[in-house]
Amino acid sequence: MRARAGRMSTRPPSPRAPVVGTMPTVSPLALARRPLGGRLPEPIDGRRVSFHAKARDAIWQTVRALAPEPGENVLLPSYNCGAEVDAVLKAAAGVRFYRVDRETCVDLQHLRESIDGGTRAVIVTHYFGFPQPELQAIVELCRARGLLLIEDCAHALYSSPGGRPLGTYGDIAVFSLWKTLPIPDGAATRMNGRLRVTGGGVQPPLRRSLDWIRLSVRARLVLRHGRAGRFLKRYAVDVAAAAVKRLPAVIPPPPPAVASGNPHVSFDGASAALTMSAPALLIASRSDHRAIAARRRRNYTLLAAEIRRLGGMRPLHPELPDGVCPLCLPVVSDDAPSLQEHFARRGIGTELFWSEFHPACPAGDFPDATFLKTHVLALPIHQDLDSPALEHVVAAIRAWRAET
Ligand SMILES: Cc1ncc(COP(=O)(O)O)c(C=O)c1O
Repeated sequence: MRARAGRMSTRPPSPRAPVVGTMPTVSPLALARRPLGGRLPEPIDGRRVSFHAKARDAIWQTVRALAPEPGENVLLPSYNCGAEVDAVLKAAAGVRFYRVDRETCVDLQHLRESIDGGTRAVIVTHYFGFPQPELQAIVELCRARGLLLIEDCAHALYSSPGGRPLGTYGDIAVFSLWKTLPIPDGAATRMNGRLRVTGGGVQPPLRRSLDWIRLSVRARLVLRHGRAGRFLKRYAVDVAAAAVKRLPAVIPPPPPAVASGNPHVSFDGASAALTMSAPALLIASRSDHRAIAARRRRNYTLLAAEIRRLGGMRPLHPELPDGVCPLCLPVVSDDAPSLQEHFARRGIGTELFWSEFHPACPAGDFPDATFLKTHVLALPIHQDLDSPALEHVVAAIRAWRAET
C-alpha cells in the first residue's frame, strides 16, 4: 500500500542537498572555456541544415513547404506532445493519427492502413532518443507510397545507433536542440531529400537569451551548492544581471504573441520567423558533444540499473542500446503524480510526460498512448548530474521503494 503524502516522512532535505532541475544548466564559463570555433554535432553540422528557435517552427515550415491542398493530411503518431500536431494544423494541413504501442513503438500495420488518398507526409518520432524499431520498414513504406517522411528527432540529438545518426533516414528531420543542450532556444532541420526549408530569418531578442542565461546560471549554483547556492547567486549572478539591464535594446521586441492555449503543447505563429539565437548557437557549437552524450548514457545506465534492482517503478526502456543518447529516463508508474511529488519534495525536478492531450487527437481511439500519457514520469539524467546529484536521486528512489 502506497504511503500518502500526509504520512510520508517529511524531514526537510539538507540545505546543501543538490536541487536537480529537469534541464541542463549553462556554466558561466561556457563561452570563455573553449576555443573559438567549435562545431555542431552530426548530422546537423553540414550544409543542408537550417535553424529555428524551436522544432515546432521547423515542422510548421516543412509542412508549409509541402503546400498542402485543402483536404490533404499529415499522419502523426497517437503518442504526441501536441506542439507538433498544432504546427501541422496551423500549416493548413489536416491531421490523421496512427497507433503507437505501450513500448512507444509504431504499429506499422496501422500506419499502413491509415494512409489515405489525401496523405502527403508521415511524422515518425524517436521517443526519448530511442530509435523506432521499424524505421527501415517505415522508410520503405513512405518511399513506395510517395510520402514525405519527417523524422522527429526532437529527443534524439547525439543518438546514433549502429553508427548512423538518427535524422539521416527520413526525407527531412527536425531536432530540438534546447532540450539536450543548455541553451535558451534552438532547433535544426536536416534535409536529406529534395524538399527545402529556409529556417528562421529573425534573431530572437538578445535580452531574452541573456535573461535565460542568468536564470540558468542561478539554477546551476543551486544544483552544485544546494539551497545555499541561492545566496551565492546574489554575488555571482546579479552582477551579470545588472550589466544586462544596462544593455541598449539593440533588437526590437518581438511581435505580440498570439495566445493559443498551453504554450508547451501549442504552436505560436508569431515565433515561426525566429531563428536560433546567436548565444544559443555559440554555446551549442562550443559544447563538448562527446562528453555530454557519454555523461547522459552513464547517468541513464546507473539510474535504470538501480530502479530495476529496487522496483517500485519500471524503466520504459530497461536497457540502453549502443549509440543511443537518452533525453531522460522515462519510468512507468501506477501513480506518477505522487511519484513526481515525492521527487519534488527532495528538490528533484521530473516531468509528467505529455500529460496534455491535443484536442485534435482522439484519445479514446488510442488507449496505449493514453496509458503512456498518464503513467510516464521522466527523471533527469542530463549532463549536469555529477556523482553527488546522482546519489541524491538514487536516495530518493530508495526512499520511494521503502515507503510504498
Ligand atoms: C516529439 C516532439 N516533437 C516536437 C516537439 C516540439 O519541440 P520544440 O519545443 O522545440 O518546439 C516536442 C516538444 O516537446 C516533442 O517532444
